[in-house]
Parts: sequence; C-alpha cells; structure tokens
Amino acid sequence: MLKIGLDGIRTFLPPEALDFGAALSSLRTLKSGTGAGNDYLGWVRLPETYDRDEFSRIIAAGRRIWEQAEAFVVIGIGGSYLGARAALELLRSPRCNEAKTSGPAVYFIGNGISADDISEVLDLVRGKNLYVNVISKSGTTLEPALAFRIFREYLEHTYGKDGARERILCTTDRARGVLKGIADREGYETFVIPDDVGGRYSVLTPVGLLPMAAAGIDISRVMAGAAAQMAESLAECEENPSVVYAAARQALYRMGKKVEVLSYPGENSRFLAEWWKQLYGESEGKDGLGIFPASCELTADLHSLGQYIQDGERILLETMLRFAHSRRRVEVPRVEADEDGLNYVAGRDYDEIFACAAEGIRRAHISGGVPCMELVADRPDEETFGALVYFFEAACGISGYMQGVNPFDQPGVEEYKKNMFALLGRN
Ligand code: PA5
Repeated sequence: MLKIGLDGIRTFLPPEALDFGAALSSLRTLKSGTGAGNDYLGWVRLPETYDRDEFSRIIAAGRRIWEQAEAFVVIGIGGSYLGARAALELLRSPRCNEAKTSGPAVYFIGNGISADDISEVLDLVRGKNLYVNVISKSGTTLEPALAFRIFREYLEHTYGKDGARERILCTTDRARGVLKGIADREGYETFVIPDDVGGRYSVLTPVGLLPMAAAGIDISRVMAGAAAQMAESLAECEENPSVVYAAARQALYRMGKKVEVLSYPGENSRFLAEWWKQLYGESEGKDGLGIFPASCELTADLHSLGQYIQDGERILLETMLRFAHSRRRVEVPRVEADEDGLNYVAGRDYDEIFACAAEGIRRAHISGGVPCMELVADRPDEETFGALVYFFEAACGISGYMQGVNPFDQPGVEEYKKNMFALLGRN
C-alpha cells in the first residue's frame, strides 16, 4: 500500500550502514512488549482488537452529528487534536467548511490560549445547531479545559441543561479525571481513550474516530487501511517499510543528520505533517537525543525554506511524501494565443506536473547534500490515511527503541505546565 524509496540516500550511506539487525530486534521488543514504556502498547494491535461495540456507538454518534448539527466544535490539544484534524484536512479539505454541501461546519479549538481564536469560533457557531466533542485523556489539560468551560456555558445558556446534554460528547479516560467526573455527573455520552494508548498514538481510538465520523468520513475504511498496514509493519523482514524507514533515519542521524524535513504535497497534508511532528518529536526528543521533526509544503515552502534546504547547514534529511493520484483531475487548457507560454504543458494534468516538480526537487536536494527518502501512497483516501498512521506509529516505536529512549513517555511536556500553573496560582 505504501512504498518507501531509498534511492535518494544511497550516495550518502553504504548499504551496510542500515542496521536491520537492530531495527528488527526493536520490532521484536515492540511486539513482545518487553521494552521501555510497555504499558502504552495498546496501539500496536488496535486495528484488529478495537472495541467493536464502542465503534458502533461512534458511528451512531457521528451520524447523529452529521445529520443534525450545523456546527461541530472539537476541543483538544496535542495527541487529542492533531490526528483528527489531519484526517479531516486530508480526506475532506482544509476548506471543507466553505465547500461543504451537507454535514456540519467543523471547528477545532482548545489547542492554544488565544482569546481571538475562541471568540471567533464562538461567533461563527452562534445561532447554529451546535454539537461539541471535548477530548482529553487526563481531563486536566488547561487549554481544552478552558475552552470546554466556555462552550459548555454557551450550550447550557442557549439550550438549557437537557439540550446541552444532548449536544456534548466527552472522549476521555475510562474512569479517572475531572472530565470523566463532569461527564458522569451531567450524564454526557462518553467515549473511552484506552489506558494503554498514549495521546500521540490515539488517532485510531475515539479521539480521532469520532470527529472523523461526525465529518462524514468512513471510519471502517480507515481501520481497514490501518489493519492492512499493520500486517506489513509488524512483519519481521527487511522489506517491512516501517523497519526500512526506522533503520534509514537512525543511520542518517548517526552521520549527523539531526533534522528531518517531511515534505508533503500541498495543503491537504499540512496537518498530517503536524501530527507526524508531534509523534516523532515527543517520542524521540529526550535524553539530549533525537532528530528534530520539521516540515515543508511542496511546492509553497520552496519559496521560503527552499534556500536553506538546498544550501544551508548540512544537518538535514528529507522524507518526501507523495500521492500517485489526487482525488480530482485538473488538466491545463490549451490557449491559442499562448501569451503566457504555457502551451508546452497544455493537455497535461496537475498530477503529472507535480510528479515532475517533485522529482526535480528530489534531485536538487540530493545534489545539495540532503539525503532524500520517498514515501509514496496511491491516493489520499481513507485506507491510505489509516495506513499512513500505522506505518508512522510502528516506525516511530522501532526508531525510538533503536535510539535507546522510551518512545512512549513525554516527561518534558510537564515542565511548562509546572511553571504556568505556579504563575497562575493554582493550588
Ligand atoms: O501525546 C500526548 O500525550 C500529549 O500531546 C497529549 O495528547 C496532550 O497533552 C493532551 O493531553 P490530554 O488528552 O490529557 O488533554
């Protein structure tokens, strides 16, 4: 389903530099649950073990929101946000609120502390039939908790307690936390983030699946894509693409490539890259180690970051994500006068032109000293999204173990919270 190409790193690394022995041993550690962070491995078999009853409830709730809501606000941050937004933007569109013909307008909030952002979303949903999904595993994260307080108050004021109860859905821990307590007391419908799945590995739980279902995405297809990729990414062989990716990036890291640029083909994939950054940054950036995850939108960012990638400090490696086919086909028209001189591409479609651009970029970056892997998927559909999620998650676990860190904790994230809560005077 996904193809990883290493041609663009071969001039930088001898084949023996890829330590497949260590990568496969890390994969075995992951599968046997004998490594660091092994109480957070629920995601490994999730595409086949997910709770079918809860999945049916997600589909039912998603359908209800799709049919009844005019606006749907998703509240969450980090792992409780990025995956859902990645799915919506890839599978529908970053502009889906304007382009939609049915279903609710979807807004993400609680992913920062901006008075302007939250005021604007409140203004946009006012007077519309509104549903809210608040997502927080701990139930105590300040950003979503603040946003939930504001939207809950708005819903209760607008629809009364009973009306708010029909419109609030909570995705949180099975038993613990402030949000779970509120949901139980108020009788809100709840969805469970399994204990053994950490935030950044939770997109295939209700965290990602409920917003997807409410936005009209076929989540059965997403899970089918993830399951197919799981079979490939858990195979103990050197052809396993997650093993190849992990081995290659660790080999490049050892030769001083400390920043990985995930380049991606346009706005639809922007939040996929944001999700990827969290996955790899939080998993590997610890103990003074780790590749810094950065991203580059093709071709837009070549007009901003392109100079550095081509010619700046040679600490970069690149992973170029491409789709062989777009969802829609656009052909360049032939114009008799040809005043803009573009008839040389007349009759060719955008995918063909993008493929030439991507190959040109790849060759330029390689000749500029940036090893460049390719990750090619067929098209941006539900199965591909599920496959990409699983591919990257598996590779991240393998790569983290190769690097010698616990890829499933995030102790550094707590530091800013401690300072912030002290400054805010929390008891
Ligand atoms: O990956 C993580 O664990 C974090 O990014 C969390 O998802 C994020 O901090 C949100 O936490 P919570 O879901 O507890 O509100």
